[in-house]
Amino acid sequence: MLLENKVALVTGAARGIGRAIALVLAEEGADVGVADVKWSRFDGERYYAVPRRESDPEEEEVRTDEAIERLGRKAHSVEMDVSDSAQVKEGVESVRNELGRIDILVNNAGIVTNIRPLADMERASWDHELAVNLSGAFNCSKEVLSGMVENGWGRVINISSGAALGGIHRQAAYAASKAGVLGFTKSVTLEYAAQGITCNAVMPGMAESPLVRAMPKEIREEQMRLIPAGRFADTREIAYMVAFLASDRAAYINGVEIHVNGGGHLTPGTLASRKGK
Ligand SMILES: NC(=O)c1ccc[n+]([C@@H]2O[C@H](COP(=O)([O-])OP(=O)(O)OC[C@H]3O[C@@H](n4cnc5c(N)ncnc54)[C@H](O)[C@@H]3O)[C@@H](O)[C@H]2O)c1
Repeated sequence: MLLENKVALVTGAARGIGRAIALVLAEEGADVGVADVKWSRFDGERYYAVPRRESDPEEEEVRTDEAIERLGRKAHSVEMDVSDSAQVKEGVESVRNELGRIDILVNNAGIVTNIRPLADMERASWDHELAVNLSGAFNCSKEVLSGMVENGWGRVINISSGAALGGIHRQAAYAASKAGVLGFTKSVTLEYAAQGITCNAVMPGMAESPLVRAMPKEIREEQMRLIPAGRFADTREIAYMVAFLASDRAAYINGVEIHVNGGGHLTPGTLASRKGK
C-alpha cells in the first residue's frame, strides 16, 4: 500500500472525482477527512438524475465516509464551503481533532455554474466561480500547510482542468479559475519544497462524474470524438494519479501539471469554440 499511516483531507468528496479520490486513498491505507458543501445530497434530485456507475455501485446509497470505514480505515466528514475561510478553518480543525493531523490535501471541490457568453456573464457569478475553484484551494492550503511544515512532510494536490491551458468556450470564469490553480500550485512548490512538501496539479480529461454524466448527449458525443482513447475516464483513473502523487514515491515530483485525459491534450480544439452555437 502506498499511503499507510497517512491522513488525507479531500474536498468535494461527496461524489464524482472527489469521492473516487477519497476511496482510492483509503484503499492505499490512508485515513481520510472528507469535506463537502452538502452531504444531504442523497435526497436531492440533482444526484438521482444521473445513472449509477458500474465501478462504484454503492455511490447512490453509501456516503463516502461510510464507504471508507467499510474499507477498514478511519473517516471523518465535515460540511464546509471551501470558498468560506471561516468554515474551512473550522472544518480543518475538526479533521485534525478526529484524525490527528493532515498529511495530504486534495483540493478537488469545483463548480461549473457560469456557462454563457462573456458579455452576459454577471460579475457575481464570475466572483463565485473563482471563489470556489481558486480561492477554495487557497483557503484550504493556508489552513493545512502549517501542520505539514511542522511534520516536515506534506502533499498538496490540486485538481485543475485542461481548460486552464486551452481555454473553454463560454466558460471564461471556469478556465480562468483553473489556470489560476496552476499558478497557485507552482507558487506553493517554490515556497514549501525545501520543507518536504510537494504541490502538484492533476488535469483530468472528461471523467464520468455525476456532472459529466448529466451533460446533454450531443455534447458528450462531441467531446468523445476528440479523445484519442475513445472514451471518458472512470473517476478512479484520476484518483490513481492522485494517490501516486500523494505517496513517498513521488517525493521528487513538484510543481508540475499532469494530464490524465486519454491523450486529449494532443487533440487541438478539445474544448474549442463551437462557432454559431
Ligand atoms: N468531471 C470532469 O470531466 C472534470 C474534468 C476536468 C476537471 N474536473 C474538476 O474535477 C473536480 C471534481 O469534478 P466532478 O466532475 O467530480 O464534479 P461534481 O460536481 O460531480 O462533484 C463536485 C463535488 O464538489 C462539491 N462542491 C461544490 N462546491 C463546493 C464548495 N463550495 N465547497 C465544498 N464542496 C463543494 C459538490 O457538492 C460535489 O460533491 C472539479 O474541480 C472539476 O472542475 C472535472
